[in-house]
Amino acid sequence: MSYRIAVIPGDGIGNEVMPEGLRVLEAVGAAHGLSFTPCHYDWSCETFKATGRMMPQDGLERLRDHDAIFLGAVGFPGVPDHISLWNLLIPIRRTFDQYANVRPVRLLAGVPCPLAGKAPGDIDFWIIRENSEGEYSQMGGRFAEGTEREFVLQEAVFTRTGIDRILRYAFEFGKQLGRLHVTSATKSNGIYHSMPYWDERFAAMAAEYPDFRTDEYHIDILSARFVMSPERFDVVVGSNLFGDILSDLGPGVTGTIAVAPSANINPERIYPSMFEPVHGSAPDIAGQNIANPVGQIWSAAMMLDHLGHPEAGQAVLHAIEKVLSRTDGPKTPDLGGRASTAELGEAIAAEVSAQ
Ligand code: NAD
Ligand code: IPM
Ligand code: MN
Repeated sequence: MSYRIAVIPGDGIGNEVMPEGLRVLEAVGAAHGLSFTPCHYDWSCETFKATGRMMPQDGLERLRDHDAIFLGAVGFPGVPDHISLWNLLIPIRRTFDQYANVRPVRLLAGVPCPLAGKAPGDIDFWIIRENSEGEYSQMGGRFAEGTEREFVLQEAVFTRTGIDRILRYAFEFGKQLGRLHVTSATKSNGIYHSMPYWDERFAAMAAEYPDFRTDEYHIDILSARFVMSPERFDVVVGSNLFGDILSDLGPGVTGTIAVAPSANINPERIYPSMFEPVHGSAPDIAGQNIANPVGQIWSAAMMLDHLGHPEAGQAVLHAIEKVLSRTDGPKTPDLGGRASTAELGEAIAAEVSAQ
């Protein structure tokens, strides 16, 4: 099988971790009879500074007929974040209706956990984040500008279709995993309209899945429970903003956000899905070749799953775990070691080839 992959390294460490993602993809392809044709797109804040655009006018059109999109990170000091993100990453997610953002939270062997007494296997759950509407919105504006009455209005949009489809995705995801337990992130005590509505739709969806255990927590206490008792979760579903926050908190609790992957899925497969690490461009360490490439590499594993090659995805994940769990194995500084990005990437690729 042969796949055309749109590759967008983006900004900062995106350019350093992407080659490692591609290196491992190449290795797993060779071992599993798959070939990948990467089409490189250098769209980034650099492009913006040079051309006034994050991507060419027909950029989204160019991405459309790829089998998947593999992205590094977008956003860098020098271009305001809301400009860079709303002109590249967010339009891709929306144009291609990638409404399900799947983000695993897993304590891996070899990654020091900041919580006492936790072993690999203790923390292992999935965040399903709504990825197309909600709090992420350009609706609103600035009013009475320049006066003392100046104010901004920021609207959030929660549609019945949008909520129902992500909730259904979460329940179906739990069913596929054989983990019949969904936790809903909410805030219906403080947010007057959208969150009570989310809860109402969650109750309706839960009624369609009587075999499931369900929990609903307000986002404040849910955040505390992520730290105090992360073992209790299986599938956690939340709005765009809550899902975003929880998907840094979860990996933080497992030791480093640098290993966390994500899949922006268009479940109907009308459009390409996109795979990218949870982390950003890390301007504080960019250019030093010390970024941890595991989030990018694990995202490649999720891409392989999506393309219908779960055994290849599993091989990549297995190689990641094997390399990280070696006591004398290469570790980047975030893992307490001194290895470079490339050294860790090379070791994982070698492990994939050796399997
Ligand atoms: P960030 O994830 O880039 O960095 C947060 C911290 O984690 C930093 O200290 C960084 O050094 C560290 N870190 C992140 N990835 C790492 C890795 N692979 N290896 C080792 N350390 C790593 O978050 P931020 O600083 O809030 O954002 C920086 C820029 O990235 C902003 O422009 C932001 O908008 C953007 N961003 C983009 C994405 C994306 O493209 N999906 C995600 C998050 C942030
Ligand atoms: C993520 C990022 C993005 C998001 C930003 C950069 C817009 O934080 O993918 O988690 O909030 O979706
Ligand atoms: Mn985020």
